[in-house]
Amino acid sequence: MVEPLIKRARAALDTAHVPYSEYPVGAALRVADGTVFVGCNIENANYSNSLHAEEVAIAEAVKTGHTDFEKLAVTSAARDGVTPCGMCRQTLAEFCDESFPIVCDLGGDDATDYTLGELLPNTISQDTLVAAEQRGESE
Ligand code: THU
Ligand code: ZN
Repeated sequence: MVEPLIKRARAALDTAHVPYSEYPVGAALRVADGTVFVGCNIENANYSNSLHAEEVAIAEAVKTGHTDFEKLAVTSAARDGVTPCGMCRQTLAEFCDESFPIVCDLGGDDATDYTLGELLPNTISQDTLVAAEQRGESE
């Protein structure tokens, strides 16, 4: 059975704006109250302004006050198990701990399950800065 969160990520592919890469990505982010926020990639002619699907989903959640993330699903039209890029992993680390689950679509009902800690070990977070402050090492 296809996980419902993956279905939502797949549906988000329909609105991807990808005239340059022609590589649509969809993301679906479930938050603590069960609401699912979706995103697709939105590319730009200057390339660097392009938004990633995960960023768009995260922005949708945070802007409405939802920062308690439960799970993320990511897919591409190629169903190639695409994972969040390094930038998106770091954006997730702002709100999630190492155990945060990320499921990546391999097509059909096949998928790979990761945790954020597997994809981005030992990263900087608010905890890093608070700990340094407490040790008096931030000046
Ligand atoms: N892309 C995402 O939307 N999420 C990722 O984390 C990986 C890359 C998009 C960016 C660009 O529009 C396309 O995939 C090819 O890199
Ligand atoms: Zn990304």
